[in-house]
Amino acid sequence: MFEAMYAGAEAGGAEPPWDYGAPRPQFVEWAEAQDLSGGGRPALVIGCGYGADAEFLASLGFLTTAFDFAPTAIAGARRKHPDSQVNYLVADVLHLPREWQGVFDLVVESLTVQSMPPEQHPVAARNIAALVAPEGTLLVLATTREEDSEVKGPPWPLTRAELKEFVDGDLVMRRLERIEGGSWWRAELSRGRERPDASANQAASDP
Ligand SMILES: C[S@@+](CC[C@H](N)C(=O)[O-])C[C@H]1O[C@@H](n2cnc3c(N)ncnc32)[C@H](O)[C@@H]1O
Repeated sequence: MFEAMYAGAEAGGAEPPWDYGAPRPQFVEWAEAQDLSGGGRPALVIGCGYGADAEFLASLGFLTTAFDFAPTAIAGARRKHPDSQVNYLVADVLHLPREWQGVFDLVVESLTVQSMPPEQHPVAARNIAALVAPEGTLLVLATTREEDSEVKGPPWPLTRAELKEFVDGDLVMRRLERIEGGSWWRAELSRGRERPDASANQAASDP
């Protein structure tokens, strides 16, 4: 489905509805709030589409890799950003290179897991979590779904329980926000011993 949508856009059809040619505001706001700076550290963008989020990370000084399983999206990203420093690759969340495990200081996942069928969410979340380096951070953006609510995807927005599937060993939920009037999750997880902040505890205990 995704490859067909990107191929249609490349052939002059409608642009993919999630792409508006700029980094996602919910990501930019998070980055600016902490004055995020890469300093040459490695970062990875999951399901990068045409690469706006990846270009933003590269502009902040991250050594950025970005992948998508749709080859036409990756070809489009390379074409739209001809002078890019980003390493754009075709890869599938469900079959990631082993050598990526534990490598990235920042991993950004925006709306990719929810574009996959629900039965794939746990393995996708585990695979993404495994990419985060010691003391690294994972940012997850997704739209929200209440537990037990029926949804006919795609997309299949994430429940709170599904978000917790990104928690993995010492990769803990530091901050979990409901933004956009409650219709989006913004979750920040990181590895290390530091205690989660109160909002993560609050969110974890909300009904
Ligand atoms: C809804 S779009 C979101 C794109 C972008 N992350 C954003 O926030 O605008 C989902 C993207 O994930 C990609 N995708 C879906 N399943 C994937 C998989 N198994 N592995 C890699 N990419 C995948 C799609 O091709 C598409 O570009």
